[in-house]
Amino acid sequence: MKILILGVNGFIGHHLTQRILDETDWSVFGMDLSDDRLGKNLQNPRFHFIEGDIAINREWIEYHIKKCDVVLPLVAIATPKLYVEDPISVYNLDFEMNLNVIKQCVKYHKRVAFPSTSEVYGACPDPEFKEDESTLVVGPIRKERWIYSCCKQLLDRVIYAYGTRGHLEFTLFRPFNWIGPRLDSLYAAKEGSSRVVTQFIAELFMKRPITLVDGGSQKRCFTYVDDGIGALLRILANEGDVCKNQIINIGNPENECSVRELADLLKKLFINHPDHRADETYSEIIEVPAQTYYGEGYQDIYARKPNIEKARLLLGWSPKVGLEDSLRMTLYSFLEENEP
Ligand code: UGA
Repeated sequence: MKILILGVNGFIGHHLTQRILDETDWSVFGMDLSDDRLGKNLQNPRFHFIEGDIAINREWIEYHIKKCDVVLPLVAIATPKLYVEDPISVYNLDFEMNLNVIKQCVKYHKRVAFPSTSEVYGACPDPEFKEDESTLVVGPIRKERWIYSCCKQLLDRVIYAYGTRGHLEFTLFRPFNWIGPRLDSLYAAKEGSSRVVTQFIAELFMKRPITLVDGGSQKRCFTYVDDGIGALLRILANEGDVCKNQIINIGNPENECSVRELADLLKKLFINHPDHRADETYSEIIEVPAQTYYGEGYQDIYARKPNIEKARLLLGWSPKVGLEDSLRMTLYSFLEENEP
């Protein structure tokens, strides 16, 4: 099988590439703006990398969509700070650029595995979110945070419509707060624009305060990246065509915790790390109003738990890595890669 991955150097892209090359005989054709996370895979004869931009290298993309069996368009802005700071770029990249790719998939009747998101459920009140039943709830327009959710939702709907009318084949997968090595860069965390787990780890590392937005009672279910990629590999293999035109949550409902619990747990793990046991000071944990941290356009999601029955049934998959292990492995890899 030949797989095209746009955004191959991103968090999901580089982990997926590693596992495909290690565990299958498939070939990967990948494009990204840089290659710093791809390491030794760049030398693998089954990996074909080009440095490029989806807004510019359109001919390369069209040629490879035609040539490959499955297309994974993973290019997107996926950090909430940027949704409120630069909603137009989110729209351009996450919606328009990806729509172009989807239209090419239609042109060549390809199979697309598209990264939808847990964010499409928004402020849905269900205790567990179900792919084919839950209502998708977003806030008012002035709360610009929702632009990401809306862009992804509209693409989900467009892909669904093309798929159910036979113009392409799709699987929409919805990651729920995947975490792991190289989730976001230290540089993004220094700017305060990375996702919560890397943001907290970076604050501990830099001895800056950990900020709990609005008190930190909001909850997430954190999923270790190796578990998530395991599900994604089964989607790509698509044995018995079980994933054809399906939407599938990929998350770990067992790993639910509040942002405050997350801060406490990461601080404990950091203090117990062999290189940091003897530090003189550690980050304090403080509370900050959402408006101060993110700005006026932000609105939070208070609880977000996936129902994963569909993934269990269709893929025979369930997540294995618990919360503390997931955080420990994420923290340790961050420290290893960033310590001088
Ligand atoms: C994320 C992002 O939108 C995407 O990465 C993705 O599509 C999706 O959810 C997912 O990974 O499933 P969210 O979980 O809100 O959204 O993103 P984080 O930035 O990781 O924030 C999680 C929670 O921590 C939020 O409630 C936020 O207010 C809080 N937070 C964040 C803090 O309390 N302090 C911080 O320093 C940063």
